[in-house]
Amino acid sequence: MGKTMGKDWEETKQELAKTALKSMGNAYVPYSHFHVGAALLTEDGTVYTGVNIENSSYPAAICAERTAIFKAVSEGHRKFQAIAVCGGLNGKAGDYCTPCGMCRQVMREFCESGDFKILLVKEDGPVKEYTIGELLPLSFGPESLEG
Ligand code: THU
Repeated sequence: MGKTMGKDWEETKQELAKTALKSMGNAYVPYSHFHVGAALLTEDGTVYTGVNIENSSYPAAICAERTAIFKAVSEGHRKFQAIAVCGGLNGKAGDYCTPCGMCRQVMREFCESGDFKILLVKEDGPVKEYTIGELLPLSFGPESLEG
């Protein structure tokens, strides 16, 4: 369970970035050594972290973003404001780590308002802000299944 952040957007962004960077330490990455951390902000201000969790059977691994989203959804959350993501080899987020295609698709499921922000974070440098439309254009979503 995360904590509530009652702050303005700039402050919230920086806190989410810090939380994502800190969570990278929990990544279970004995195979790639590529740590990824995510911090997901729900509509009600709760924050869920996620890390990548690898497996000796490689395809059984899960990315940090989906860990965070699935944790939150499994606790009853369905709407989200933003997710901060960072990662790098040996736990050093020296460059921006962009979400994989599968994670973008999972994010797409929960951003019907279009306000959802994907925040790319690195150790030294500004937080970059994207919408799901920018990262996943011409996407397939829940409404695609409506007649
Ligand atoms: N990874 C993530 O956690 N998120 C992404 O969006 C990209 C890739 C993880 C999966 C794997 O554990 C490691 O990074 C190297 O691919």
